[in-house]
Amino acid sequence: MPVTLIIGAQWGDEGKGRVADLLGADADVVARYAGGDNAGHTIAVGDEVFKLHLVPSGILHESASCVLGNGMVINPVNLLAEMDQLCSRGVDLSPERFLISSRAHIITPAHVALDRASERALGDEAIGTTLRGIGPSYLDKTGRRGIRAGLMQDAETFADAVHDAIERANEALINAGESPLDARATALKWIDAAMRLAPYIQDTSQYINRRLRDGARVVCEGAQGTMLDLDHGDYPFVTSSSPVAGGALVGLGFGPLHVDRIVGVTKCFSTRVGSGPLLTELDGALGQRLRGSGENFWDEFGTTTGRSRRCGWMDAVILRHAAQVSGFTELFLTKLDILSGIETLKIAGAWELDGVQHELPPANQQDLKRAKPVYESMPGWKADLSGMRHQDDLPQAARDYVRRIGELCDTAVRTVGVGPEREQQITLDDAL
Ligand code: IMP
Repeated sequence: MPVTLIIGAQWGDEGKGRVADLLGADADVVARYAGGDNAGHTIAVGDEVFKLHLVPSGILHESASCVLGNGMVINPVNLLAEMDQLCSRGVDLSPERFLISSRAHIITPAHVALDRASERALGDEAIGTTLRGIGPSYLDKTGRRGIRAGLMQDAETFADAVHDAIERANEALINAGESPLDARATALKWIDAAMRLAPYIQDTSQYINRRLRDGARVVCEGAQGTMLDLDHGDYPFVTSSSPVAGGALVGLGFGPLHVDRIVGVTKCFSTRVGSGPLLTELDGALGQRLRGSGENFWDEFGTTTGRSRRCGWMDAVILRHAAQVSGFTELFLTKLDILSGIETLKIAGAWELDGVQHELPPANQQDLKRAKPVYESMPGWKADLSGMRHQDDLPQAARDYVRRIGELCDTAVRTVGVGPEREQQITLDDAL
């Protein structure tokens, strides 16, 4: 397996971090290719829980080196805080095993302020972003005025660039009725960050290609999910990068023929944070039950923002779209244990729009607003699945539910998660 891609099939938060942690055990390189610290990956290892926003989950396996790819946007101050936290817990983050692409783009405090200003200006129409400056940073990248991470190797020039970017953003902030930032003070603070991060900067595309030539196994850890993809998600309620499979090639810089496994990760129900359509949303007690109380780290509250997630039934229309856009070779279905005790389960197999059934989502918001899910119902199960480790242990109703999800999107479910711990998963075979 030269390259495995781990792709979110829904709206993010599918459990990609735990899958990356699992597959990272056999990997030589684990790489992030898109997004920034809007992501939040939670991994449970024994009694310890790690919450990662920028550093790939593979960092918890000593044998893997980890890469932040060119497709990412990186807030250096937040990255250092995360690195320091991991180091204090004994994780090795030496430049020999942790690399940052010189072509990744930098998030400045001005991007964060502009993100906030833009959301405020949108009022009721706000996207519900994570307020991490992701959109404004990608906007500067595509506007060809961004700052690349490679500039941190020359701290003075980097500080000048940060200073100028903040001065420029200040005009926009003042026009939007926001307070301007202190460009000089920020630039000075960021010199420190640049000096500390400089040893980690490399041409990571060259690095990955060299490792692939030497026979390394690379796992690419997606962030966010297909429905938040700038092109394939439900625009404009999306992030500003490409979480789908194609994004990994662009965001790391290697050729498609290296990829031989594309794992679509999906929860066995739907969740979404932020605004935008969620056709199968459950507002009442059932939605609350799926969300959990917030007492456990695996309950449906954002790792990055703490916001409660909207919850709903499984939507095969979304999953089919995700499988098609990224070419999933298999599915990893997470949180099956959460459905225990629900008498009847529903899956949206199609959407009805103006009397016509659709198997794939329409592209525009006006159509999405009129679409209604067409459900099929399946019997639920009572048994607690969290201690089960073999597919034969699973109740027949759980096996039927899993098999039906695979059938509906024409992709076999190869693994199910039955709890947050590393070992709480079941490998499935064709005889399911
Ligand atoms: P942004 O990426 O902060 O610009 O936010 C854009 C949209 O993507 C918002 O709806 C966010 O809630 C959502 N989003 C961004 N990152 C994540 C994530 O890691 N999990 C779930 N939703 C996310």
